[in-house]
Amino acid sequence: MSLPEFPDNPTRENSGTSRRNFLKTTLATTMTATMLERARAEAASTPAPADIREPIAMTLRVNGRDRRVSLDVRTTLLDALREHVGLTGTKKGCDQGQCGACTVLVNNKRVLSCLTLAAVAQGQEVTTIEGLAKADGTLHPMQQAFIDNDAFQCGYCTPGQIMSAVACVQEGHANTDDDIREYMSGNLCRCAAYPNIVDAVKQAKPQMKES
Ligand code: FES
Ligand code: FES
Repeated sequence: MSLPEFPDNPTRENSGTSRRNFLKTTLATTMTATMLERARAEAASTPAPADIREPIAMTLRVNGRDRRVSLDVRTTLLDALREHVGLTGTKKGCDQGQCGACTVLVNNKRVLSCLTLAAVAQGQEVTTIEGLAKADGTLHPMQQAFIDNDAFQCGYCTPGQIMSAVACVQEGHANTDDDIREYMSGNLCRCAAYPNIVDAVKQAKPQMKES
């Protein structure tokens, strides 16, 4: 009469049906199921992340006025100004930082609004071409100088040119023609009004100091 087989009989070790193998498999399966269950429970109790496309309320300070807007956080300052605040003077040329048509001032420093997130501009003083003239309609010396010197043709690049020119003078970078050309080189003009733009900057520079 043969002896009853013991589950962990070494002679069965290699067959894959030993008690040890059985326990290993059962334990692993049970642990995996438990962990999965726990992970499911945790996922169920964690609030779903907010949809980043959901508009967020923000306040932009533009030309001395607070503007309440509700924006997708990925909105550029350029699109916020044009599409949400309704200030279309700032132009979209390339929309990728190449042409300067979208130049505005943020805290008196020129920035490309197509490369600046509106959310980042919160709490900063944004100035657009619409904010240069005085309340009584008197043009800024740079605006007047562009008119006096015929410094544009189609006018599409002009708001960006003027904002950049104002900053160029304020930065102290308008001392010579070469200086002006160098520091205005980020603003392209397809109509090639460049010589007239240099003349306009030279005319406005002393007037800006007086005003
Ligand atoms: Fe911003 Fe061209 S539109 S640089
Ligand atoms: Fe036409 Fe500059 S005036 S692009």
